[in-house]
Amino acid sequence: MKVLVATEKPFAAAAVEGIKKEIEGAGNELVLLEKYTEKAQLLDAVKDVDAMIIRSDKADAEVLEAAKNLKIIVRAGAGYDNIDLAAATAHHVVAENTPGQNSNAVAELVFGLLVFTVRNFYNGKAGSELKGKKLGILAFGNVGRNVARIAKGFGMEVAAYDAFCPADVIEAAGVHAVKSQDELFQTCDIVSLHIPATPETIKSIDYKTVNQLPKGGILINTARKEVINEPELLKLLAEREDLKFITDIKPDADADFAQFEGRYFSTPKKMGAQTAEANINAGIAAAKQINAFFKDGCTKFQVNK
Ligand code: 3PG
Repeated sequence: MKVLVATEKPFAAAAVEGIKKEIEGAGNELVLLEKYTEKAQLLDAVKDVDAMIIRSDKADAEVLEAAKNLKIIVRAGAGYDNIDLAAATAHHVVAENTPGQNSNAVAELVFGLLVFTVRNFYNGKAGSELKGKKLGILAFGNVGRNVARIAKGFGMEVAAYDAFCPADVIEAAGVHAVKSQDELFQTCDIVSLHIPATPETIKSIDYKTVNQLPKGGILINTARKEVINEPELLKLLAEREDLKFITDIKPDADADFAQFEGRYFSTPKKMGAQTAEANINAGIAAAKQINAFFKDGCTKFQVNK
């Protein structure tokens, strides 16, 4: 079987080595398309492959149509909003993700960005500390749970809200379960977003929601840019000079947000899962899932059932 790794933002070299070992060890062939700049390159590369591993690369209807032999596509990572699941199903392609494999990396980045923020982007002026501040975690999945674990090490108070995770599960992790998303924004100094991009969440982080943050509030987004209502957040930042917005996913309106100097920061590329460990974990998990699919028909992590 021919397995393509298509990554516009490549895995660390050690991860690629590990994926190659897994795929070839199972008697399959590995082909690589890294740092591609044109969709045409992807469309050409998928033509004759049986399986594919991607990151945030877009597997839309056109890509799935072009991949005539494709049987399985694995998103090495958590969020699979970049795969057109309806098109995958229509083409009888199994779509999978690798949940939990890169969550620690994303959680660590949250704190890298937060320390940078409360220390005024290291501009030399006295900043503040995270200890004693209240952190609100929106969605208590794999990343949210790792964020909670690290926050406790910083001596922060931790609260969470998750529309799908029962309060007793959150409380069992030693985290205060608030009753609503609004309560989270009203009662926390910092809110960290860990919601997927779904029809319900897209543009849900809007003016009204964020305006509930107390004075000096910080919004940090390492989830998806689509969940932010950008025009409304821009309007709010213009009105409230006390608020900060920090993200590792450059918003579409990055140039407009950039006017809020000292209160806005974005990494140039999505960096949350960009560690060797996360790449190795997620990449090798994806390779193993593909091998298991071809060997035993295993579809444990299928997301288009
Ligand atoms: C994920 O959904 O797993 C993360 O957003 C990581 O995305 P990336 O592989 O593009 O860094």
